[in-house]
Amino acid sequence: MTKNFAIGGEVIHAVDGVSLTIEAAEMVILTGASGSGKSTLLNLIGGLERPDTGQLDVLGVDVTGASDAELTRMRLTQIGFVFQDFSLLKDLTLAENVSLPLEGAGQHRKEARQQATAHLERVGLEGMENRFPDEVSGGQQQRVAIARALVGRRSLILADEPTGALDSATGRGIMQLLAGLRDEGVTIVLSTHNPANVAFGDRVVELQDGKQVLPALEGGARP
Ligand SMILES: Nc1ncnc2c1ncn2[C@@H]1O[C@H](COP(=O)(O)OP(=O)(O)O)[C@@H](O)[C@H]1O
Ligand SMILES: [Mg+2]
Repeated sequence: MTKNFAIGGEVIHAVDGVSLTIEAAEMVILTGASGSGKSTLLNLIGGLERPDTGQLDVLGVDVTGASDAELTRMRLTQIGFVFQDFSLLKDLTLAENVSLPLEGAGQHRKEARQQATAHLERVGLEGMENRFPDEVSGGQQQRVAIARALVGRRSLILADEPTGALDSATGRGIMQLLAGLRDEGVTIVLSTHNPANVAFGDRVVELQDGKQVLPALEGGARP
């Protein structure tokens, strides 16, 4: 699978020949330096970008051939996305931000807000549901973004550096929360810079300049 970006006549190979099958209820960790293609790969998996070449199946759907409407429906109902920049709506309260995907999927407002509040508690933000994003810290905003990705019955969670703004104890708590969801059958693909997060994954995919780094053969050189 490839994804190129053209900037001022120059072509950037953001994702270059990555081939990846993600099993259900698996936690895959994407690592690699800044600019190695982690966010682009997550956007491709989440249907926010379309690959230039190659095929991509997500939750049994051929994303390459899916219509925009199908991709939108999948994102609303099946995929939770934790964006690197959180992407919270600043004019909505924390509870309103978290309940947005539920209301978008047709759930009644009152019920959606109750679920949103419960999910805010789950990420340690009890009592903060009526605050606005700019009234809480960056780490708290990140946890709101995580709560928003968790609401509803999501079968796939895509998380772009979800602990990047958190102190190590809070970050570990979030990784444990995600690992617990994986144990309940949720599939998780997560990018991270933090080596401490790698141990939570079932599998690590390392990217370098958009390419997959193949793991070194175990046992070192042959005799
Ligand atoms: N929308 C875009 N337009 C142009 N270039 C992009 C765009 N998104 C990403 N890139 C480029 O693609 C490469 C991979 O970026 P990215 O996926 O954000 O990497 P990472 O998340 O690992 O830091 C980088 O060189 C980046 O500058
Ligand atoms: Mg990134």
